[in-house]
Amino acid sequence: MATRWRLCVCSLGILLLVPCSLSEEFSLAGSLHPVVEVVGQDVVLPCQLSPQAGLPSMDVQWRKAGPGFILVHEYMHEGTQDLPGEGYQTRTELFLQDFSSGNVSLKLKRVQVADTGTYHCFVRNPQWTLEATTELQVAAVAPVFIDVLGPRGQGIGLACRSAGWFPKPELQWVGKNWQNLAMEIVTNMTQNVENLYSVVSHVTVTEGEDNGDISCIVQNGLLETERQSAIHLSGDVFPHVSPWLAAFWVLFTLVLIAAGACAYAGYTAKQKASQKKRSKEESLLNLANEKKTREAECQELHETLDAERKAFESERQELRKTIASKEKKIKELEEERQELRKTIASQKKGWFG
Ligand SMILES: *[C@@H]1O[C@H](CO)[C@@H](O)[C@H](O)[C@H]1NC(C)=O
Repeated sequence: MATRWRLCVCSLGILLLVPCSLSEEFSLAGSLHPVVEVVGQDVVLPCQLSPQAGLPSMDVQWRKAGPGFILVHEYMHEGTQDLPGEGYQTRTELFLQDFSSGNVSLKLKRVQVADTGTYHCFVRNPQWTLEATTELQVAAVAPVFIDVLGPRGQGIGLACRSAGWFPKPELQWVGKNWQNLAMEIVTNMTQNVENLYSVVSHVTVTEGEDNGDISCIVQNGLLETERQSAIHLSGDVFPHVSPWLAAFWVLFTLVLIAAGACAYAGYTAKQKASQKKRSKEESLLNLANEKKTREAECQELHETLDAERKAFESERQELRKTIASKEKKIKELEEERQELRKTIASQKKGWFG
């Protein structure tokens, strides 16, 4: 009521050509805090005239701070011109029905990351111009997925992926038992042409005593919201070495060792046998040689003996002959002696007789 009254008074003043500084009475307010909106959603950038009243002849302009102070939307000449700026076609709207209450807020549809920035709202009438600012921050969140990549050594490889975040998100793996999560967590972040971030994180989970749920949490610091995905890893999924397989390997190793030992023993035995054989052969050869020499020696001895025997024989023959002649001589001598005795005896007779 008071505003209406003041307007009336002022209008009267203008009519009476009395200077009237109406802008002193009016003020324009944007938002003290940044307006945060999610990509793809519609947002209202507030701009409110105080006192809450419409003005008969009022132009409204929205511009975005940046190179060139880009025109976002323009309302002029009592609504004969109500147009979005270049690059904002079909995305901007003013609440014309609320103009009467001084609400000149802008509706920006299907926000994009590129819409982030400071917006200036201007309200102008022939006498004055008012300006207010509102900051817009755009955020994006996306669903999170966990992929089971399969066995990785003694553990299971997991990947957490999510595409379409803004600003840069924070990724975190959470497990009941933190020791189950290998120290190696590799996280990669990429940004696409629409400035949205994609995140992929790899982790290897080894089997623990109590494997519960393992979660991948991706957080948006601006919205203070998070998206997560969880997976339950039961003991069965881990690569197990079965006791039979372990036993098999132990046995296999033992068999291998035994086979190796046997082969070695056989080899050495063979070596020894062949060595023995060789030495036997050698000794046999030696014996044969010796036999030959012995035989030759024997032959020689035989020959010598024969020769000697022959020599003896002839000697004996000669000796016999000599003995025979000697015996003959002895007989002759005996006969001679007999004769001599007879002679002597006859002589004796002659002498004494
Ligand atoms: C202006 O009006 C719109 C649509 O009714 C509403 O969403 C918005 O909150 C209003 N703004 C203010 C600052 O009151």
